[in-house]
Amino acid sequence: MTHYPSLPNQNHWTKLLGEGAFGAVYDISRKDNLVAKTLTYCPRAYGTKDEALRWECAVARLLYRSGVSVPRPEGLYTVRIRQRESIFSRNCSEREESGFVMERIRGQRLDELFSQCPKDIYVHSLWEEELQKARDLGFELPDATTRNAFYLPAEQRVVLFDFGFWVHPEPERVLEEML
Ligand SMILES: Nc1ncnc2c1ncn2[C@@H]1O[C@H](COP(=O)(O)OP(=O)(O)OP(=O)(O)O)[C@@H](O)[C@H]1O
Ligand SMILES: [Mg+2]
Repeated sequence: MTHYPSLPNQNHWTKLLGEGAFGAVYDISRKDNLVAKTLTYCPRAYGTKDEALRWECAVARLLYRSGVSVPRPEGLYTVRIRQRESIFSRNCSEREESGFVMERIRGQRLDELFSQCPKDIYVHSLWEEELQKARDLGFELPDATTRNAFYLPAEQRVVLFDFGFWVHPEPERVLEEML
């Protein structure tokens, strides 16, 4: 595990916000409104977990800088995950992990929204616009499903996330974002 700088202002307890096949996202700093994505598993084709996180952070930086609607990326940090073993228990587990830290988004996931109102053509078109901006930057988006986007009704904005599997014809150019 690469030892990145530790993140300031971390919560005392870390709450798990969401978990997928490859990653877990924690509420890491309420003070700074930040979450951390850590990788639980990484298919061999994507290199080590640290390489995969680095790629996701680089993609996020390029998208954010280019005006695609994504959570503001903060960078790679060593984060402390401290959780109670259960809500009834005083015992806790604590470990350090590499995390891709980004702005916390409080929105509704598109898969949940579309299961309630499948014909929400307006939100669908906002989503498609953001995906097209990413394609125009040269990305292929194999994993850009409704599970990987939020809708913020107050701002009428769709926010894309989860770029670990996105592909670019010039990956070294994307990785320059990390220099
Ligand atoms: N910036 C964020 N702010 C708030 N919640 C988030 C943020 N990023 C991710 N999440 C939550 O964490 C969950 C998992 O995130 P993500 O999709 O990046 O991980 P994953 O392991 O690749 O998931 P999956 O395999 O399901 O696609 C999301 O479904 C979402 O609910
Ligand atoms: Mg996902």
